[in-house]
Amino acid sequence: MNGMCRPMSTKNQLLTHLKEGKGNWVSGEFLGRSLMISRAAIWKHICTLKEEGYIIDSSRKKGYLLRQATESLLPQEIQEGLKTNFIGRNNVVYFKETDSTNTRAEHLANEGAPEGTVVIAETQTQGRGRRGRSWFSPPGAGIYASLILRPRLAPNEAPKLTLMTSVAAVETLRAFTTLAVTIKWPNDVLIHEKKVAGILTEINAEMDKIHYVIIGIGMNINTPLKAFPGEIRKIATSLLIETGNRFSRVSILRDYLERFEKCYDEFANEGFNPFMSRWRALTDIIGKRISVDVIHSTYTGIVRDIDEDGFLILQDRDGNLKKIISGDIALLNQRNMS
Ligand code: BTN
Repeated sequence: MNGMCRPMSTKNQLLTHLKEGKGNWVSGEFLGRSLMISRAAIWKHICTLKEEGYIIDSSRKKGYLLRQATESLLPQEIQEGLKTNFIGRNNVVYFKETDSTNTRAEHLANEGAPEGTVVIAETQTQGRGRRGRSWFSPPGAGIYASLILRPRLAPNEAPKLTLMTSVAAVETLRAFTTLAVTIKWPNDVLIHEKKVAGILTEINAEMDKIHYVIIGIGMNINTPLKAFPGEIRKIATSLLIETGNRFSRVSILRDYLERFEKCYDEFANEGFNPFMSRWRALTDIIGKRISVDVIHSTYTGIVRDIDEDGFLILQDRDGNLKKIISGDIALLNQRNMS
Protein backbone atom coordinates (compact mmCIF):
# COMPACT_ATOMS: atom_id res chain seq x y z
CA MET A 1 0.00 0.00 0.00
CA ASN A 2 1.30 3.46 -0.81
CA GLY A 3 0.06 6.94 -1.62
CA MET A 4 0.39 6.53 -5.39
CA CYS A 5 -2.48 5.91 -7.80
CA ARG A 6 -2.92 2.22 -8.48
CA PRO A 7 -3.83 1.14 -12.02
CA MET A 8 -7.40 -0.14 -12.29
CA SER A 9 -7.65 -3.94 -12.36
CA THR A 10 -8.87 -5.61 -15.59
CA LYS A 11 -12.02 -6.74 -13.77
CA ASN A 12 -12.81 -3.16 -12.78
CA GLN A 13 -12.07 -1.87 -16.28
CA LEU A 14 -14.55 -4.44 -17.57
CA LEU A 15 -17.07 -3.24 -15.00
CA THR A 16 -16.54 0.36 -16.13
CA HIS A 17 -17.32 -0.65 -19.73
CA LEU A 18 -20.52 -2.39 -18.59
CA LYS A 19 -21.54 0.70 -16.56
CA GLU A 20 -20.81 2.95 -19.53
CA GLY A 21 -23.21 0.73 -21.52
CA LYS A 22 -25.97 2.33 -19.38
CA GLY A 23 -28.35 -0.63 -19.55
CA ASN A 24 -27.37 -1.64 -23.13
CA TRP A 25 -25.60 -4.79 -24.27
CA VAL A 26 -21.82 -4.58 -24.56
CA SER A 27 -20.36 -7.08 -27.02
CA GLY A 28 -17.76 -9.65 -25.97
CA GLU A 29 -15.75 -8.68 -29.02
CA PHE A 30 -15.58 -5.03 -27.93
CA LEU A 31 -14.60 -6.01 -24.37
CA GLY A 32 -11.94 -8.43 -25.62
CA ARG A 33 -10.45 -5.83 -27.95
CA SER A 34 -10.49 -2.95 -25.43
CA LEU A 35 -9.06 -4.97 -22.58
CA MET A 36 -6.87 -7.19 -24.74
CA ILE A 37 -8.12 -10.38 -23.11
CA SER A 38 -9.67 -13.65 -24.33
CA ARG A 39 -13.36 -14.57 -24.17
CA ALA A 40 -12.50 -17.09 -21.42
CA ALA A 41 -10.87 -14.31 -19.38
CA ILE A 42 -13.93 -12.07 -19.86
CA TRP A 43 -16.14 -14.87 -18.60
CA LYS A 44 -13.92 -15.39 -15.54
CA HIS A 45 -14.24 -11.70 -14.60
CA ILE A 46 -18.00 -11.74 -15.23
CA CYS A 47 -18.31 -14.68 -12.81
CA THR A 48 -16.31 -12.78 -10.16
CA LEU A 49 -18.50 -9.69 -10.59
CA LYS A 50 -21.64 -11.84 -10.20
CA GLU A 51 -20.18 -13.29 -7.01
CA GLU A 52 -19.67 -9.72 -5.79
CA GLY A 53 -23.39 -9.09 -6.22
CA TYR A 54 -23.61 -7.46 -9.66
CA ILE A 55 -26.57 -8.67 -11.72
CA ILE A 56 -25.30 -9.27 -15.26
CA ASP A 57 -27.13 -10.89 -18.19
CA SER A 58 -25.09 -12.71 -20.80
CA SER A 59 -25.98 -13.72 -24.34
CA ARG A 60 -23.84 -15.53 -26.92
CA LYS A 61 -24.97 -13.12 -29.60
CA LYS A 62 -25.28 -9.80 -27.77
CA GLY A 63 -22.59 -9.97 -25.10
CA TYR A 64 -23.14 -8.67 -21.54
CA LEU A 65 -25.60 -6.30 -19.90
CA LEU A 66 -25.29 -4.88 -16.39
CA ARG A 67 -28.81 -4.98 -14.90
CA GLN A 68 -27.96 -3.85 -11.39
CA ALA A 69 -24.85 -2.80 -9.51
CA THR A 70 -23.99 -4.57 -6.28
CA GLU A 71 -25.24 -3.28 -2.94
CA SER A 72 -21.97 -4.26 -1.29
CA LEU A 73 -19.55 -1.59 -0.07
CA LEU A 74 -16.83 -2.76 -2.46
CA PRO A 75 -13.86 -0.44 -2.98
CA GLN A 76 -14.64 0.02 -6.69
CA GLU A 77 -18.16 1.25 -5.78
CA ILE A 78 -17.00 3.58 -3.00
CA GLN A 79 -14.21 5.04 -5.11
CA GLU A 80 -16.34 5.66 -8.20
CA GLY A 81 -16.83 9.41 -8.27
CA LEU A 82 -15.43 9.84 -4.72
CA LYS A 83 -14.49 13.50 -4.42
CA THR A 84 -11.63 13.30 -1.93
CA ASN A 85 -7.91 13.96 -2.18
CA PHE A 86 -6.61 11.35 0.20
CA ILE A 87 -9.38 9.70 2.24
CA GLY A 88 -10.10 6.37 0.52
CA ARG A 89 -8.50 7.57 -2.71
CA ASN A 90 -6.47 4.47 -3.49
CA ASN A 91 -6.47 2.63 -0.23
CA VAL A 92 -9.79 1.06 0.66
CA VAL A 93 -9.49 -2.29 2.41
CA TYR A 94 -12.64 -4.40 2.23
CA PHE A 95 -13.75 -7.40 4.27
CA LYS A 96 -16.90 -9.39 3.70
CA GLU A 97 -16.57 -10.33 7.37
CA THR A 98 -14.03 -9.37 9.99
CA ASP A 99 -13.72 -9.12 13.75
CA SER A 100 -13.62 -5.31 13.97
CA THR A 101 -12.62 -2.74 11.35
CA ASN A 102 -10.90 -0.73 14.12
CA THR A 103 -8.78 -3.76 15.00
CA ARG A 104 -7.93 -4.38 11.33
CA ALA A 105 -7.10 -0.68 10.86
CA GLU A 106 -4.83 -0.77 13.90
CA HIS A 107 -2.87 -3.70 12.41
CA LEU A 108 -2.60 -1.94 9.05
CA ALA A 109 -1.47 1.29 10.74
CA ASN A 110 1.23 -0.63 12.64
CA GLU A 111 2.41 -1.99 9.28
CA GLY A 112 2.68 1.58 7.94
CA ALA A 113 -0.62 2.07 6.10
CA PRO A 114 -0.88 5.69 4.95
CA GLU A 115 -3.14 8.39 6.25
CA GLY A 116 -6.54 8.16 4.59
CA THR A 117 -6.72 4.36 4.49
CA VAL A 118 -10.32 3.22 4.89
CA VAL A 119 -11.21 -0.21 6.27
CA ILE A 120 -14.74 -1.44 5.57
CA ALA A 121 -16.64 -4.60 6.49
CA GLU A 122 -20.05 -5.92 5.50
CA THR A 123 -20.32 -7.46 8.96
CA GLN A 124 -18.23 -7.54 12.14
CA THR A 125 -18.10 -10.50 14.49
CA GLN A 126 -16.60 -8.43 17.33
CA GLY A 127 -17.67 -4.87 16.54
CA ARG A 128 -16.50 -2.66 19.40
CA GLY A 129 -18.22 0.34 21.00
CA ARG A 130 -17.07 2.89 23.55
CA ARG A 131 -16.26 1.86 27.12
CA GLY A 132 -15.85 -1.84 26.29
CA ARG A 133 -19.31 -2.23 24.81
CA SER A 134 -19.99 -4.19 21.64
CA TRP A 135 -21.42 -2.80 18.40
CA PHE A 136 -24.14 -4.86 16.74
CA SER A 137 -23.01 -5.27 13.10
CA PRO A 138 -25.39 -7.42 11.01
CA PRO A 139 -24.34 -8.15 7.39
CA GLY A 140 -25.22 -5.70 4.66
CA ALA A 141 -27.45 -3.53 6.86
CA GLY A 142 -25.11 -0.92 8.25
CA ILE A 143 -21.88 0.90 7.57
CA TYR A 144 -18.89 -0.29 9.57
CA ALA A 145 -15.81 1.71 8.60
CA SER A 146 -12.55 2.84 10.16
CA LEU A 147 -10.18 5.57 8.99
CA ILE A 148 -6.44 5.66 9.60
CA LEU A 149 -5.19 9.19 10.33
CA ARG A 150 -1.76 10.51 11.17
CA PRO A 151 -2.54 14.02 12.42
CA ARG A 152 0.06 16.47 13.69
CA LEU A 153 -1.64 16.95 17.03
CA ALA A 154 -0.77 16.49 20.68
CA PRO A 155 -2.46 13.39 22.15
CA ASN A 156 -4.69 15.53 24.39
CA GLU A 157 -6.24 17.09 21.28
CA ALA A 158 -7.59 13.78 19.95
CA PRO A 159 -11.05 14.21 21.58
CA LYS A 160 -11.61 17.20 19.31
CA LEU A 161 -11.27 14.88 16.31
CA THR A 162 -14.11 12.77 17.69
CA LEU A 163 -16.39 15.79 18.02
CA MET A 164 -15.40 16.89 14.53
CA THR A 165 -16.29 13.41 13.25
CA SER A 166 -19.72 13.56 14.84
CA VAL A 167 -20.34 16.83 12.96
CA ALA A 168 -19.41 15.15 9.64
CA ALA A 169 -21.59 12.11 10.44
CA VAL A 170 -24.67 14.13 11.41
CA GLU A 171 -24.30 16.45 8.44
CA THR A 172 -24.21 13.36 6.18
CA LEU A 173 -27.31 11.79 7.72
CA ARG A 174 -29.17 15.11 7.53
CA ALA A 175 -28.26 15.38 3.84
CA PHE A 176 -30.07 12.09 3.16
CA THR A 177 -33.18 12.57 5.33
CA THR A 178 -35.31 15.35 6.73
CA LEU A 179 -35.10 13.77 10.18
CA ALA A 180 -33.81 15.66 13.20
CA VAL A 181 -30.50 13.84 13.59
CA THR A 182 -28.70 15.16 16.67
CA ILE A 183 -25.47 14.68 18.62
CA LYS A 184 -25.38 13.62 22.25
CA TRP A 185 -22.03 14.52 23.78
CA PRO A 186 -19.47 13.37 23.11
CA ASN A 187 -20.31 11.54 19.90
CA ASP A 188 -23.54 9.56 19.93
CA VAL A 189 -25.67 10.26 16.89
CA LEU A 190 -29.37 10.06 17.67
CA ILE A 191 -32.77 10.16 16.00
CA HIS A 192 -35.73 10.50 18.37
CA GLU A 193 -33.33 9.86 21.27
CA LYS A 194 -32.27 6.48 19.85
CA LYS A 195 -28.81 5.77 18.57
CA VAL A 196 -28.41 5.64 14.79
CA ALA A 197 -24.61 5.95 14.70
CA GLY A 198 -21.62 5.77 17.02
CA ILE A 199 -17.96 6.71 16.80
CA LEU A 200 -15.01 4.95 18.38
CA THR A 201 -11.71 6.85 18.37
CA GLU A 202 -8.55 4.98 19.34
CA ILE A 203 -5.10 6.50 19.43
CA ASN A 204 -1.55 5.20 19.41
CA ALA A 205 0.73 7.85 20.86
CA GLU A 206 3.73 8.77 22.93
CA MET A 207 3.52 11.47 25.61
CA ASP A 208 3.76 14.30 23.08
CA LYS A 209 3.21 12.73 19.68
CA ILE A 210 0.40 10.85 18.00
CA HIS A 211 1.56 7.95 15.83
CA TYR A 212 -1.89 7.34 14.43
CA VAL A 213 -5.57 7.69 15.19
CA ILE A 214 -8.25 5.21 14.15
CA ILE A 215 -11.72 6.68 13.81
CA GLY A 216 -14.34 3.95 13.52
CA ILE A 217 -17.93 4.72 12.64
CA GLY A 218 -20.95 2.47 12.79
CA MET A 219 -24.16 3.65 11.12
CA ASN A 220 -27.45 1.74 11.25
CA ILE A 221 -28.86 2.24 7.76
CA ASN A 222 -31.08 -0.57 6.47
CA THR A 223 -31.39 -2.52 9.74
CA PRO A 224 -34.99 -3.65 10.34
CA LEU A 225 -36.33 -3.32 13.89
CA LYS A 226 -36.67 -7.08 14.33
CA ALA A 227 -33.00 -7.58 13.49
CA PHE A 228 -31.89 -5.74 16.66
CA PRO A 229 -31.61 -7.99 19.73
CA GLY A 230 -34.26 -7.17 22.36
CA GLU A 231 -32.13 -5.08 24.71
CA ILE A 232 -30.66 -3.00 21.85
CA ARG A 233 -34.08 -2.46 20.23
CA LYS A 234 -35.00 -0.02 23.02
CA ILE A 235 -31.99 2.21 22.49
CA ALA A 236 -31.09 1.85 18.80
CA THR A 237 -32.69 2.82 15.53
CA SER A 238 -31.87 2.90 11.82
CA LEU A 239 -32.74 5.06 8.83
CA LEU A 240 -35.00 2.23 7.59
CA ILE A 241 -36.91 2.14 10.89
CA GLU A 242 -37.31 5.91 11.01
CA THR A 243 -38.34 6.49 7.39
CA GLY A 244 -39.64 3.15 6.07
CA ASN A 245 -37.18 3.50 3.18
CA ARG A 246 -33.99 1.69 2.27
CA PHE A 247 -30.93 3.81 1.52
CA SER A 248 -27.84 3.33 -0.62
CA ARG A 249 -25.06 2.58 1.84
CA VAL A 250 -22.50 3.33 -0.87
CA SER A 251 -23.84 6.88 -1.38
CA ILE A 252 -23.98 7.54 2.37
CA LEU A 253 -20.46 6.25 2.99
CA ARG A 254 -19.08 8.25 0.05
CA ASP A 255 -20.75 11.42 1.33
CA TYR A 256 -19.41 10.83 4.84
CA LEU A 257 -15.84 10.31 3.56
CA GLU A 258 -16.04 13.52 1.52
CA ARG A 259 -17.43 15.54 4.43
CA PHE A 260 -14.92 13.99 6.79
CA GLU A 261 -12.00 15.04 4.60
CA LYS A 262 -13.31 18.60 4.32
CA CYS A 263 -13.72 18.80 8.10
CA TYR A 264 -10.28 17.28 8.70
CA ASP A 265 -8.62 19.81 6.37
CA GLU A 266 -10.52 22.66 8.00
CA PHE A 267 -9.51 21.40 11.41
CA ALA A 268 -5.83 21.28 10.32
CA ASN A 269 -5.99 24.84 8.92
CA GLU A 270 -8.30 26.62 11.33
CA GLY A 271 -8.36 24.49 14.46
CA PHE A 272 -11.35 23.38 16.49
CA ASN A 273 -13.13 26.75 16.78
CA PRO A 274 -15.29 26.49 13.60
CA PHE A 275 -16.54 23.12 14.84
CA MET A 276 -17.73 24.42 18.20
CA SER A 277 -20.55 26.39 16.58
CA ARG A 278 -21.34 23.59 14.11
CA TRP A 279 -21.43 21.05 16.94
CA ARG A 280 -23.68 23.31 19.06
CA ALA A 281 -26.09 23.67 16.14
CA LEU A 282 -26.44 19.89 15.90
CA THR A 283 -26.93 19.04 19.55
CA ASP A 284 -30.03 19.45 21.66
CA ILE A 285 -28.45 18.78 25.05
CA ILE A 286 -27.42 22.37 25.82
CA GLY A 287 -29.66 23.63 28.62
CA LYS A 288 -30.82 20.08 29.50
CA ARG A 289 -30.61 18.47 32.90
CA ILE A 290 -28.45 15.35 32.70
CA SER A 291 -26.42 12.88 34.66
CA VAL A 292 -23.04 11.86 33.37
CA ASP A 293 -21.20 8.68 34.32
CA VAL A 294 -17.48 9.20 34.55
CA ILE A 295 -15.28 6.24 35.47
CA HIS A 296 -15.96 6.11 39.26
CA SER A 297 -18.49 8.92 39.71
CA THR A 298 -21.76 10.29 38.44
CA TYR A 299 -22.39 14.03 38.13
CA THR A 300 -25.73 15.74 37.74
CA GLY A 301 -26.43 19.20 36.42
CA ILE A 302 -27.41 21.36 33.50
CA VAL A 303 -25.35 21.31 30.31
CA ARG A 304 -24.10 24.82 29.65
CA ASP A 305 -21.79 24.27 26.67
CA ILE A 306 -18.71 22.55 25.33
CA ASP A 307 -15.38 24.34 25.68
CA GLU A 308 -12.55 24.88 23.21
CA ASP A 309 -11.12 21.45 24.08
CA GLY A 310 -14.42 19.69 23.42
CA PHE A 311 -15.07 19.10 27.13
CA LEU A 312 -18.61 19.28 28.49
CA ILE A 313 -19.41 22.17 30.83
CA LEU A 314 -21.88 21.11 33.46
CA GLN A 315 -23.43 23.42 36.07
CA ASP A 316 -24.37 21.77 39.34
CA ARG A 317 -27.26 22.84 41.60
CA ASP A 318 -24.97 25.20 43.53
CA GLY A 319 -24.07 26.99 40.32
CA ASN A 320 -20.53 25.57 40.11
CA LEU A 321 -19.21 24.78 36.65
CA LYS A 322 -17.45 21.47 36.09
CA LYS A 323 -15.54 20.31 33.03
CA ILE A 324 -16.20 16.72 32.02
CA ILE A 325 -13.59 15.15 29.78
CA SER A 326 -15.35 11.93 28.88
CA GLY A 327 -18.40 10.01 30.02
CA ASP A 328 -21.86 8.67 29.27
CA ILE A 329 -24.80 11.06 29.43
CA ALA A 330 -28.37 10.27 30.47
CA LEU A 331 -31.13 12.86 30.11
CA LEU A 332 -32.98 13.48 33.38
CA ASN A 333 -36.47 14.71 34.05
CA GLN A 334 -36.38 18.34 32.89
CA ARG A 335 -38.20 19.74 35.99
CA ASN A 336 -36.38 21.90 38.55
CA MET A 337 -34.28 23.60 35.93
CA SER A 338 -32.50 26.75 36.86
C1 BTN B 1 -20.11 3.67 20.27
O1 BTN B 1 -21.05 4.44 20.09
O2 BTN B 1 -20.00 3.02 21.30
C2 BTN B 1 -19.08 3.54 19.18
C3 BTN B 1 -19.47 2.52 18.15
C4 BTN B 1 -18.44 2.41 17.03
C5 BTN B 1 -18.73 1.25 16.10
C6 BTN B 1 -17.81 1.23 14.91
S1 BTN B 1 -18.32 0.09 13.68
C7 BTN B 1 -16.82 0.30 12.83
C8 BTN B 1 -15.74 0.39 13.88
N1 BTN B 1 -15.26 -0.92 14.23
C9 BTN B 1 -15.56 -1.23 15.49
O3 BTN B 1 -15.29 -2.31 16.04
N2 BTN B 1 -16.20 -0.22 16.08
C10 BTN B 1 -16.36 0.90 15.18
